[in-house]
Parts: sequence; structure tokens; C-alpha cells
Amino acid sequence: MHDGSGLIAVQNLTKQFGSVTAVQNLSFTVSPGSVTGFLGPNGAGKTTTLRMLLGLVKPTSGTATINGRPFHQLGRPGRVVGAVLEAQGFHPNRTARNHLRVYASAIGVPDAQADQVLGLVGLSTAAGRNVGGFSLGMKQRMAVATALLGDPQVLVLDEPANGLDPEGIAWLRNFLQSFARMGRTVLISSHLLAEVEQTVDQVVIVSRGQTMYYGPLEHLRQQQQRRVFVQPSDVGALATALREAGVQALEQLPDGRLAVSGVDAKQVADTALRAGVSVYGIQEEQADLEQIFFRLTSGQFAGHAPAPYQQQQGGWA
Ligand SMILES: Nc1ncnc2c1ncn2[C@@H]1O[C@H](COP(=O)(O)OP(=O)(O)O)[C@@H](O)[C@H]1O
Ligand SMILES: [Mg+2]
Repeated sequence: MHDGSGLIAVQNLTKQFGSVTAVQNLSFTVSPGSVTGFLGPNGAGKTTTLRMLLGLVKPTSGTATINGRPFHQLGRPGRVVGAVLEAQGFHPNRTARNHLRVYASAIGVPDAQADQVLGLVGLSTAAGRNVGGFSLGMKQRMAVATALLGDPQVLVLDEPANGLDPEGIAWLRNFLQSFARMGRTVLISSHLLAEVEQTVDQVVIVSRGQTMYYGPLEHLRQQQQRRVFVQPSDVGALATALREAGVQALEQLPDGRLAVSGVDAKQVADTALRAGVSVYGIQEEQADLEQIFFRLTSGQFAGHAPAPYQQQQGGWA
């Protein structure tokens, strides 16, 4: 039924608009069976990248391929990739079903497919209504339905959660995850980490057209220097024991706890045990992903940035 595996490969992709470098030497791959978040602040180059992938913008250099081919060599692209782009227009006086039939005939799939995809996005009961009267959330579902007409292996969505209410975001999350679990490929962009955090299996974080991180969110979380908060029976004795064990970064918090960096909770508790200090409470700090995301991408505005990610997956150089 499907043509090829559904692999998206972006390799050394660069796009120059005059003096503006919208995308700079970007590389990442998206495998079938997963949802990949394409994250970065406004102006980071997400839309330009997705448009190059969809054959709407010509790369200055590098390649963006689906199933190993650039978009214009896909043969029947509507069957391979479906896309939800920003600011999609719908004819306001056309019913949902008729809108979809127009697109269905354009890509050569049967009319019946219109009702099929309306069912997939939960709009069956609205099939006969004019799209002009749809809420923003319903319009976003319509955009997804349009992208699904060709029963594509790959789904590319540019900021699909923009303006969606929490219910719409939850629907989109469930939908994209089950779509990926069927072995298909999903690439979804957003300027808000929180919007897609629970949806994605891995992320590509871009800033100023460059990759800042590429890998699972969980690795990003783990790489952060986390602190251990411990409530000991004797702060002074534990601090001394930790220093003797080589721990440099210690801070006493106003509530009487110690904040310890560079070790995990087990090491702190073991040290306390050896020093004869009781531990009344201990917890590891939760890394705040939003902060990490902000730190990785804030250089776009501040004029100085962390070094872009270079080689190994799941880290940055
Ligand atoms: N057609 C264009 N002509 C000139 N500059 C453009 C064009 N499209 C995008 N840009 C510029 O490229 C940069 C990246 O834009 P874009 O890809 O839309 O980022 P994002 O989708 O991440 O917000 C921005 O500086 C934007 O102004
Ligand atoms: Mg954009």
C-alpha cells in the first residue's frame, strides 16, 4: 500500500534568503513509528525547513528527502506525505465533505476517502456543515483530515497546536501517537515545548537555523546537572563528610536542607550513613525542560548562544 519506509532525512540543509540565513547546515532524521518534535522560537527556521521538505522552497544547499527522494521525485506525493501547513485556507461556503472531495480528486483518491478521514479526525457529524462556521479547533482537525486523504506514510505538521484549546491539544496528541504506533512517521513543529512535550518521542531543537539538540527529551533532561536536596540530622557533619568524599558544590538552604550537586541521591545517603548522620528526607531535583529549552534557544535574541549541537545524538557540543 505504501511507497517506501517513511524515513525523513534532512542533511546539511541550508537556506539563504538574501542576507538572511533562515536554515544553516541542519541535519536530522525521523524514523517511522515515532513522533518527532521540531522545536524552536519564532524565526528559528522551522517553517522554511518543512517547506523545503515539501518541495515548496528550494534549498540553497543540502538535501531534504522522504524515502530517500526529494519531494518532486516522489511520484504520487499525496500518497506518501500529508502536510498541515500554517494558515491554511478553507472555502468558507463549502461543506467539510465537499472540501475534502475537491482535494481527494486532486490527488486521485476516491470520494469515499473524504468520509473516511472525517471519521479519523472526529468530524463525521459535521461533514455536511460549512467550514466557514467551524471553530479554530475544528479547522485544525479539517487540516489534519486534508493531510490524511492520501493515506500517507508520513505526516508533517507546522505548528498544528497553535490556538488549540487543551481538549484539542489532547486530541491531537492521542491522534498523532496512534498514527505513529501504526508504523508511520510524524514530524510536528512548535515554538512551545509544553505544547508537544507529552506527544513527542524525540526532538530536534533549532535556534537561528541551527540544531541545538537532537535526541529524546529524556536524555536532555538527564544531561542536566541535577541537585540532591537532603534533610540530615546534622547538617555540619554531613557537609564535612561530603567534602571529604570530594563533593565541592554544597549549599545550605534557608529551610535547613543541603543542596548537593554532582552526585545522586544514593551517594549522598551512603555518605550520610557512613558518617552516622540520619537522613530525614532526600529528593533529586526535577530538571525543568522549559528552562533548558529557553537556555538552548535564547541566543537567537540575546546575541550569544550555546554552541550548536555537533556530532553525537543526544548531546550538544
Ligand atoms: N520567503 C522569505 N523571504 C525572506 N526571508 C524569509 C522568508 N521566509 C522566511 N524568512 C526568514 O527566515 C527566518 C526563518 O523563518 P521561518 O522558517 O518562518 O521560522 P519559524 O517557522 O521557525 O518561525 C526568519 O528570519 C524569516 O524572516
Ligand atoms: Mg513557522
